[in-house]
Amino acid sequence: MVTKILFLLLLSCAIGQTTLADDGFVTVKGRNFYLNGKKYFYLGTNYWYGMNLGAPLAGNLTRLKEELDDLSQLGIKNLRIMGSTQGPNDKEKRIVPALEYDKGKYDEDIFEGLDIFLYEMGKRDMKAVVTLNNFWEWSGGFPQYFEWYRGNYNLYPAQFYEDELLKEKLDDFIKIIVNRENTAYKKRDGKTILYKDDPTIMSWQLANEPRAGPCGAWVDWINKTSTLIKTLAPRQLVSIGNEGTITGCSEEGNYVENVDYITFHAWAQNWGWYSPSSRNGLSSGISKAHKYISENVNLNKDRNKPMVLEEFGLARNRNSYDPNSYCDIRDDYYSGVFSKVYSYAKDHSLMSGVNFWAYGGQGRPRENGGWWKADDDLIGDPPHERQGWYSVYNTDFTTLEMLRDWVDKFDSLCT
Ligand SMILES: *[C@@H]1O[C@H](CO)[C@@H](O)[C@H](O)[C@H]1NC(C)=O
Ligand SMILES: *[C@@H]1O[C@H](CO)[C@@H](O)[C@H](O)[C@H]1NC(C)=O
Repeated sequence: MVTKILFLLLLSCAIGQTTLADDGFVTVKGRNFYLNGKKYFYLGTNYWYGMNLGAPLAGNLTRLKEELDDLSQLGIKNLRIMGSTQGPNDKEKRIVPALEYDKGKYDEDIFEGLDIFLYEMGKRDMKAVVTLNNFWEWSGGFPQYFEWYRGNYNLYPAQFYEDELLKEKLDDFIKIIVNRENTAYKKRDGKTILYKDDPTIMSWQLANEPRAGPCGAWVDWINKTSTLIKTLAPRQLVSIGNEGTITGCSEEGNYVENVDYITFHAWAQNWGWYSPSSRNGLSSGISKAHKYISENVNLNKDRNKPMVLEEFGLARNRNSYDPNSYCDIRDDYYSGVFSKVYSYAKDHSLMSGVNFWAYGGQGRPRENGGWWKADDDLIGDPPHERQGWYSVYNTDFTTLEMLRDWVDKFDSLCT
């Protein structure tokens, strides 16, 4: 009996050391993610506002649960989300209420919203990529740090990487969030679960689109911050959240040891590749997206890390902001992007995942193409962008059907 128990203990330790663990944590080995003993490939979405929907006072739990159910039914189980937003709450074109409503002060209602969001994701076996800051001001981010700590809103956000005080403030926040106890597990299941021990959190992401200034300071920041996170949360992954080869220093950042996998983004309209005012140019738009994907894959071929295209999107037909307008051009563009990522995934795991931008679910713009205001529905378009530009709604049936087919294809690679 004793020897048998010892043997089992040794066996389970051995399993714990390999990629065969079935503890629900996403791990990395070579070019692959692994989950519960299988390779993990995914088609996911961006759902950055889930934290706000989950908030007991400011949110809408019914909507959150229904949307997570809808996504689950499509097989979409990987969500890239915001885990940090900065106020003040009276600022326009901001996600409000903000988690950090004033410097170093956190709104417990929104933090509980994140607890509940992660809890509800966990119930559905979903995985979260949690973004810890933002280069852009729509969630406060680096610009708000400059405003709070340097009294200057207009500094170029890339100066962040050379500002010891601002980096320290981000480190302080990282320690708070990674060590946080999830109150939803406690209240609902009587369980003590710290964020750093929650397999729902696949990855901590340093920031949304942190663009480099001088490479040295940028790489140093990535190195130090990723090491801090790894020390605090060794079972979870770390990613940068950068846009890839279109911005500087991409290769250097991806080298960093504690960056577990490589991220990039592809923006057809914002980068002038194609706009769906008509079908003319669609195939050339898709070719440009393919070229950009290939460029990033080729640059990182020798890195031996998984790669994820974690943001891309397109407007509806004729650039309409009306949720009732057609979106078959978008559907075809999405398919074009998925087919490239899928073929790289099939081919020696040269890619592992893709997240479209963004799921708007049951939300609808107050005014199609207008600006978001506090108390409007949150949708996939952040408050600084025209509402309805890139959101995929729960009534976009052709899109949802297409997504389901592609999810199945990616799932079939998880062996
Ligand atoms: C990261 O930091 C460690 C420890 O200081 C250092 O040994 C390593 O060379 C750094 N990596 C990069 C890519 O700069
Ligand atoms: C919650 O969202 C649903 C639809 O998504 C909406 O009908 C309902 O009014 C919302 N509830 C609140 C309190 O905002």
